Amino acid sequence: MQAQLTQTPAPFPRNPEPAESSLPSLRLTTQPPRELGWTAPVRQEKFLLGGELKTWTGKTDPVVSPLQIDGENVVLGTVPSLGREEALAAVAAAHEAYYGASATWPIASQEQRIACTETFLSKMREVRNEVVKRIVWEIGKSIADAEKEFDRTIEYVERTIDELRQLNREQALVQEEGVAAHVTRSPRGVCLCMGPFNYPLNETFATLFPALLMGNTAIIKPPKQGVLLYEPLLKAFQESFPPGVVNTVYGDGKEIITPIMESGKVDSLAFIGSDRVADIVSGQHPEPHRLHKVLGLGAKNPGVICKDADLDKTVSEVVKGALSYNGQRCTALKILFVEREIAPAFIDRLKEEVDGLKRGMPWESGVKITPVAEPNKTEWLNQLIEDALEHGATLENPNRTDESESLFAPQILSGVSPECRLYREEQFGPIIPIVVVDSAEEALRYQATSRVGQQISLFGQDPERLAMMALQLQRFVGRVNINTQCQRGPDTLPFGGKKSAAQGTLSIRDALLEFSVPSVISGKIGDESATLSLKGN
Ligand code: G3H
Repeated sequence: MQAQLTQTPAPFPRNPEPAESSLPSLRLTTQPPRELGWTAPVRQEKFLLGGELKTWTGKTDPVVSPLQIDGENVVLGTVPSLGREEALAAVAAAHEAYYGASATWPIASQEQRIACTETFLSKMREVRNEVVKRIVWEIGKSIADAEKEFDRTIEYVERTIDELRQLNREQALVQEEGVAAHVTRSPRGVCLCMGPFNYPLNETFATLFPALLMGNTAIIKPPKQGVLLYEPLLKAFQESFPPGVVNTVYGDGKEIITPIMESGKVDSLAFIGSDRVADIVSGQHPEPHRLHKVLGLGAKNPGVICKDADLDKTVSEVVKGALSYNGQRCTALKILFVEREIAPAFIDRLKEEVDGLKRGMPWESGVKITPVAEPNKTEWLNQLIEDALEHGATLENPNRTDESESLFAPQILSGVSPECRLYREEQFGPIIPIVVVDSAEEALRYQATSRVGQQISLFGQDPERLAMMALQLQRFVGRVNINTQCQRGPDTLPFGGKKSAAQGTLSIRDALLEFSVPSVISGKIGDESATLSLKGN
């Protein structure tokens, strides 16, 4: 017997009258356009288990927006806070849909799986506006970026389908040493997909759909923020895939992820978040050697500005790299090494550019800086700044943000030294730490000694020097960007990293390979039954 609803969301705050630009005060007062208005809290009661949309009447978790209207965070609604029993039922359903005697999905043809995925995509397109609206409210992404996330995700899945067909075309019959063999890719089993709050849709689907298309079954655990946006998709999942192939769980990690992992029924973990949590979750598997991991973890990507860099182009890329979606991207530029000769001019131009960025609500036209998504983030960012100032750094554009406000004014800090927390800690927010160096090559030492090695950006005009630095840096990072910001795209490029930044590689093709293994069916050349069965495979 499930418990009764115990938590009632706070009353929905009344939106004030529209006001003029919120600067210089950071208190937000602008109202959303009518179609984006959040008129009533959403009480999500459903979750998808074994092909059924179950109704949950137990404990719930509140979902609170980072967007503040008149200084109050808007309460968006509630989601189920499932328990151990439901979590075990979800993993059992995914396990049965893969390992059960009557399982259809792992042995379905490629075209059957593609057909189910295309059905899902067409249903997903129908709820685009609702999902975009929820991305905006749940994580404070601008409308343009939220739309981009949605559209990029659809395109990613479509291209994954094309790539799957291409992969299949490349599979040939091998005949060697008297053996005829058909080498294909077969699925790994049950996949637990856990995406991050900053790309709650895209980065979850970027592992989920390659896994499904290869024949794996899945459990989705949406991030705590970026969770309500899954609700409009639940029915689409239910109607598009056979029972048990996709299951969703919600709630506290300790309550639901621990039993799922301890069950030993998960074969792949697709996780994007901190290495601390990745280690906890993967460490709960009773057979760690069996668990295949695809992990996107921490990053502290440097931007290296050589003295001959083109100022305008460099500043423009650095601003995009450091501050797109408020710096809440794993690929964001999180520290700059600037050669002394160019430092004063570079910092002046950077200040000008950063101070000109429009701050405001995600629906304001031309907005570039929106409220930071995580609770208490402003307070934490302010602590990083205080620490840097205590260690001798200088605030170049002193527009400090009160800790009760989520619309953080971007900060440039020069004179950041190895003693500052910002030198190594990943801020995941709108702070640009600058280290002035005698030679850009000092950044090589930084990268060599970093815990993480995702990407780096080099800015300069001397091709020989850039080539030499890139060659050196390839030892330490997954991607070296020349005169451009760090980024994951285009999605055909391998996305990974070294050291503690990642495990496994994602791209449209690589993800299909990650969630499958080579599988061989072979027989003796000349054995007619074997040869015919190979052809039929
Ligand atoms: O948060 C990490 C994302 O993978 C970054 O992707 O470079 O496309 O923004 P992006």
